[in-house]
Amino acid sequence: MEVFESAFRMNSWSSEKSCSGLSVSLVPTMGALHRAHGELIRRAVAENDLTVVSIFVNPTQFGPAEDFKAYPRDFESDRELCEKEGVDVLFSPKISEMYPNGAESGTEVSVKEISSFMCGAHRPGHFDGVATVVAKLFNVVRPSRAYFGLKDYQQFQIIKRLNSDLIFGIEIVGCYTVRESDGLALSSRNRYLDKQQRRQVPYIYKALLKAAEQIKNGETDGTKISFFLKEFINKHIDGCKIDYAGAYHAQRLHPLKKVEGEVVLAAAVWVGRARLIDNLAVQKK
Ligand code: PAF
Repeated sequence: MEVFESAFRMNSWSSEKSCSGLSVSLVPTMGALHRAHGELIRRAVAENDLTVVSIFVNPTQFGPAEDFKAYPRDFESDRELCEKEGVDVLFSPKISEMYPNGAESGTEVSVKEISSFMCGAHRPGHFDGVATVVAKLFNVVRPSRAYFGLKDYQQFQIIKRLNSDLIFGIEIVGCYTVRESDGLALSSRNRYLDKQQRRQVPYIYKALLKAAEQIKNGETDGTKISFFLKEFINKHIDGCKIDYAGAYHAQRLHPLKKVEGEVVLAAAVWVGRARLIDNLAVQKK
């Protein structure tokens, strides 16, 4: 496995491989790799000739009060996992490589409307940071396919739209959420939870499952679904703070008053210093 820090070297490698007719895939990550990243990587390795994993903790997607400095970093174990999974290149650029003219003042990519709902309403600028860095990674690596986890449902929709709006022509592949046996979605931020919090947080997913059941049984009132989710989560997770919980349009992501068509149930909940997100797609005929 090669490890590149330079965007230029990464791009030259990728161009050469693509010119030789080999398909190059990209799995963008911020490191602290866990089993869910392992699944993305395994799928990319299985479906493509070559796989690049990028590890870059992107400063522009963290708000001033968020955990950029504290975000878990473990390069050696990340490198081992990638090597074991048969990754061809680990791209691990420095900030100056991805933001050669500084991170604050220059070009920004913003996918406007769908960035304004759900997490976007609570993390101003977050998705502009994500869209900007993903566009840069796409430019540097020029993959034919890129793999993202569906746990970050809004991010996935934003990247699909960015790919289409900026005519990258990349196949954007969404991979199902990987869960612990009690239903908790895997996340690098789960390590912030203490024992009691860890015992209680599966109630986020349980709430989504129960709401999906209500919808299947005929509930169509989005306000009632949102109220149920909030009440259930508050009841089972001590001291949590809910950023949002409700039923959203599966592509446009706005909150639904009437639950119909393709729907995503989603929630973002602060538990201690961990902000946990989860979602569940529901088809309402
Ligand atoms: O999902 C993530 O880990 C990040 O948001 C991403 C897509 C790698 C961009 O920094």
